Amino acid sequence: MAPRGRSREPSGPRSLALALALALAVWLALCRPARALDNGLARTPPMGWLHWERFLCQTDCGEEPRRCISEQLFMQMADLMVSEGWRDVGYQYLCIDDCWMAPTRDGQGRLQPDPKRFPSGIGKLADYVHSKGLKLGIYADVGNKTCAGFPGSYGYYELDAETFAGWGVDLLKFDGCNFGTLELLAEGYKTMSWALNKTGRSIVYSCEWPLYQRPLQKPNYTEIKQYCNYWRNYADIYDAWNSIKNVLDWTAYNQDSIVDVAGPGGWNDPDMLVIGDFGLSWDQQVTQMALWAIMASPLLMSNDLRRISPQAKALLQNKDVIAINQDPLGKQGYRITKDSNFELWERPLSDGAFAIAVINRQEMGGPQAFAFSTAILGNGLACNPMCSIQRILPASKDLGLHNWVSFLKVVVNPTGTVLLKTVVIKERLLTDHSNGHSLDVL
Ligand SMILES: *[C@@H]1O[C@H](CO)[C@@H](O)[C@H](O)[C@H]1NC(C)=O
Ligand SMILES: *[C@@H]1O[C@H](CO)[C@@H](O)[C@H](O)[C@H]1NC(C)=O
Ligand SMILES: *[C@@H]1O[C@H](CO)[C@@H](O)[C@H](O)[C@H]1NC(C)=O
Repeated sequence: MAPRGRSREPSGPRSLALALALALAVWLALCRPARALDNGLARTPPMGWLHWERFLCQTDCGEEPRRCISEQLFMQMADLMVSEGWRDVGYQYLCIDDCWMAPTRDGQGRLQPDPKRFPSGIGKLADYVHSKGLKLGIYADVGNKTCAGFPGSYGYYELDAETFAGWGVDLLKFDGCNFGTLELLAEGYKTMSWALNKTGRSIVYSCEWPLYQRPLQKPNYTEIKQYCNYWRNYADIYDAWNSIKNVLDWTAYNQDSIVDVAGPGGWNDPDMLVIGDFGLSWDQQVTQMALWAIMASPLLMSNDLRRISPQAKALLQNKDVIAINQDPLGKQGYRITKDSNFELWERPLSDGAFAIAVINRQEMGGPQAFAFSTAILGNGLACNPMCSIQRILPASKDLGLHNWVSFLKVVVNPTGTVLLKTVVIKERLLTDHSNGHSLDVL
């Protein structure tokens, strides 16, 4: 801090300048965002497909040939990710979750895939996935056993990292079941991060460290971000509106401690997209897509790309929503108000733009109107002096020009969301076709 009275520093303008420079340096040091894992990856939230929520741990390929965890399942998904346009809108990582392994390590202590379900081996699968212009993700666990009871990586961190790199794997989801003690949990996540780095291969590192730590100890996100590209905070998602609500409520309740840490290289992970599955209504699927964009979440679908409705596919492939999720500024959004049945969330985007989500949390009745002033958006800056507003979900519509005291009214279905994007307009660009003060954008 600035030298005070007792010091023998020279007084006058020079020492004042020195004090100011010092204060600025301290301020800059305190305000510098948390340093991210330095592997150059996940500069925007990773996008792809992950088998867990939809396919779980089905290992019986005799009984369930189309649904068991096998190389065939992943090759089919890889084919569809290309032929159905998923890759071209950004879904790039095809990720294996638990239950791919054989029950034991091989003679040299290496992890090996189940020989019946992955007869060609993971290296061959990686080659296939790469030949499609996609990347392959795999799964392991920090403890002695995975959550489903397959071999854990404890005691084998370096060997497993080398094995994955040797196969050509591009992403590791590292689970935390059977972690032992909090010390072993932290040490395990850090050691695997170093081990991946040492392989020299670019491998995105997905952690569940804070999820397992939180019940016992407050997570240190500054530290977690130095080791992980994204991290789970909250329980596994499941295919129901209750699960989506729980994630949103938890995130809003904890936003003061988790939002600021997110940024290029490190993201909070509210878990998979379950759009295109069984449990969510259309409006609830819109809510998940809109809010996962607001939360700067990894977009990892867990659905069956062989059977997905055109509507769910269009929602998941909506380029305007994906652009919000992938915004290069990399700031996570947050809830700004909760007003009886409505929640208003916003996310700052590059060039002074904002994404705005209005959720109707009422679970009875019909569509409800929610009115609000543009003055509350972006701390008063989103529409100052003017902005154009585009509705993105549930359907695209240009809502025209607004000023900083405009009123907006949106109509939202029960459990649905209206997603908007504001683009600020500088005064000198204004012409006089602005819309005046009170606007209805139904
Ligand atoms: C390993 O870490 C160093 C230093 O943090 C970094 O420069 C390098 O790119 C990393 N390598 C990989 C493969 O992640
Ligand atoms: C794994 O098991 C060994 C032997 O029982 C034990 O010493 C070690 O602490 C365990 N590791 C974890 C992470 O639980
Ligand atoms: C959190 O971790 C960072 C980086 O390792 C460290 O500098 C800081 O002191 C830790 N904070 C707390 C409260 O332990």
